[in-house]
Amino acid sequence: TIDQRVSELLSKMTLEEKIGQLVQYSGFEYATGPQNSNSATVLEEIKKGKVGSMLNVTGVEETKAFQKLAMQSRLKIPLLFGQDVIHGFRTTFPVNLGQAASWDLGLIEKSERIAATEASAYGIHWTFAPMVDVARDPRWGRVMEGSGEDTYLGTQIALARIRGFQGKGLGNLDAIMACAKHFAAYGAAVGGRDYNSVDMSLRQLNETYLPPFKAAAEAGVATFMNSFNDINGIPATANQYILRDLLKDKWNYKGFVVSDWGSIGEMVPHGYAKDNKEAAERAILAGSDMDMESRAYMAELPKLVQEGKVEVKFIDDAARRILTKKFEMGLFDDPFRFSNEKRQKEQTNNQENRKFGREFGSKSIVLLKNQNHILPLSKSAKTVALIGPFGKETTANHGFWSIAFKDDNQRIVTQFDGIKNQLDKNSTLLYAKGCNVDDQDKSMFAEAVETAKKADVVIMTLGEGHAMSGEAKSRSNIHFSGVQEELLKEIAKTGKPVVLMINAGRPLVFDWAADNIPAILYTWWLGTEAGNSIADVLFGTVNPGGKLPMSFPRTEGQIPVYYNHYNTGRPAKNNTDRNYVSAYIDLDNDPKFPFGYGLSYTQFNYSDLKLSSTNLKGNQALNISVNVSNTGNYDGEEVVQLYIRDLFGKVVRPVKELKSFQKIFIKKGESKTITFRLTPDNLKFYDDALHYDWESGEFDIMVGPNSQDVQTKRINWVK
Ligand code: IFM
Repeated sequence: TIDQRVSELLSKMTLEEKIGQLVQYSGFEYATGPQNSNSATVLEEIKKGKVGSMLNVTGVEETKAFQKLAMQSRLKIPLLFGQDVIHGFRTTFPVNLGQAASWDLGLIEKSERIAATEASAYGIHWTFAPMVDVARDPRWGRVMEGSGEDTYLGTQIALARIRGFQGKGLGNLDAIMACAKHFAAYGAAVGGRDYNSVDMSLRQLNETYLPPFKAAAEAGVATFMNSFNDINGIPATANQYILRDLLKDKWNYKGFVVSDWGSIGEMVPHGYAKDNKEAAERAILAGSDMDMESRAYMAELPKLVQEGKVEVKFIDDAARRILTKKFEMGLFDDPFRFSNEKRQKEQTNNQENRKFGREFGSKSIVLLKNQNHILPLSKSAKTVALIGPFGKETTANHGFWSIAFKDDNQRIVTQFDGIKNQLDKNSTLLYAKGCNVDDQDKSMFAEAVETAKKADVVIMTLGEGHAMSGEAKSRSNIHFSGVQEELLKEIAKTGKPVVLMINAGRPLVFDWAADNIPAILYTWWLGTEAGNSIADVLFGTVNPGGKLPMSFPRTEGQIPVYYNHYNTGRPAKNNTDRNYVSAYIDLDNDPKFPFGYGLSYTQFNYSDLKLSSTNLKGNQALNISVNVSNTGNYDGEEVVQLYIRDLFGKVVRPVKELKSFQKIFIKKGESKTITFRLTPDNLKFYDDALHYDWESGEFDIMVGPNSQDVQTKRINWVK
């Protein structure tokens, strides 16, 4: 068995070789933190068996070369190659928040299957994804990489992504190890400032932030990654409670934990360890198994063992976990098995993957507004103008985290090309950039206005720069950057019908546009096929069905705004109720666009909400059904959402909690009955002593097309 093989190997290893397995360095081309490794030393250390893994070493040629060095070491233990495969590999897909907007678990899983197939063909064994951090603050740049504000939706997506990456199981050539990150609560950084502290009750931590991680562990995710933040004063990297007590003991997790880049060493400036030695000691004792780029483990663990501060059993346990994964990946049988030229050439960025990318892109778009049914546009519109700094962009369409794509920018479908390809031959597509993404230069305004005047319809493409969301890209101002909003106002003054497409990795604030522009599509960053996906929606080949995975604030001052908040003792009845209630005197309480919101070119009507009972006892199940009719002029997809509210509890409960959803296709003129089932398990919550259970009482059952527009029925459920 693998266990026996690992034990046998461990028995032959010196302490230094064991510690070597806990060391990870970055290759030399791509860095997301201060690079501590000097290339010559690293190469020598690999030959001596002092390195267990490399990140950012990619491609058949490079991975083979590094693996050959490892094969020169005494015990010939293969290296693991890790990489941030975040939203696609060579074929890029929508940024993850955009993917989440599809609410389509099948598509999400398939995209990771493709990403895993492409990455493994490049010799990659392991991705640092999925990021499963719940995030309620759009100032935080990394909301782009997650699934938004909701624990339930985020958990379902996490599981779909893990299924996609790990495919039929580790050891298959197209399966890569996934990594649940960042453990934990990284998304709750104070003020939305990346890497910042997190201070929250353990109840909140367990109820809102940990479930996707727990589900990932139960689903067999191969690895976990630490987060940079501290949790209630203890950095996650050395946090005994989350790593040892919960993950490794209570959840019985058998995979390994990698630190985030430098997060062991960073406990020194953080003020938690006086030097790297103390940092290494605390990290290994807490349960961080692999040191990414801190150089603390190799330098300090031998001394710590000698001095009796760290028992060898901790090193053995970490090395065992890592070696087990190497065996499971089949690397001891053939260390070069993933680095395959033929696969690298044929299975990456091919037509089939791109075709999928096009579909996935279009299904991630959210239609926010469509006054007078401006959309879809006619392909035979005589003159169409595309205006805005993203119209002919290539790189930007990938969004942040598209490492593998560096050679492929020429192959991206620009928005201009996508639209041009679908317009009739006799139609004209005009283009004006109008302004840059992020400066104050208005010199291109006049040309843009002239261009708009010549058109029958104007498509504006605005947003934030693609490098403005992602790691270390927190923003205090999340409006369109630079002078884009001013450009939009100038174009609107021409009186031409305007369709606005918003390119972003996070919810932006665009109050003026939302009130004044008749049609708005939220297009995120859609990846390789962006232009085609966008054109498919603009011209109605695809009827948009995306729904927002985060609440969109009216203005930054409203942040954090999220749908599943608590009530207060003085809740505001509505937006105008400001009389000694929990409200701002100068701002509405509800968001500009609520969680779960998104329109369609067709119309869906909800009716006939039925419950199997309104008085339930014990372990019964509640069956819920609702009728959804497509009363508009197009076939379309709808995401039917089920929320509950527990009216009273020994700790207060959120005003709404998503419990289930179904994405369904309904032909125009047809109806479907959608059914849901709830059991007492769905009613459970953590109390202040961290007991997880449900209580007898009244519950509201709510069904609707988003978190605001719901039909409600009340039930009583007793134990
Ligand atoms: O995987 C990432 C992590 O999410 C942030 N810091 C760097 C890691 C490796 O690139």
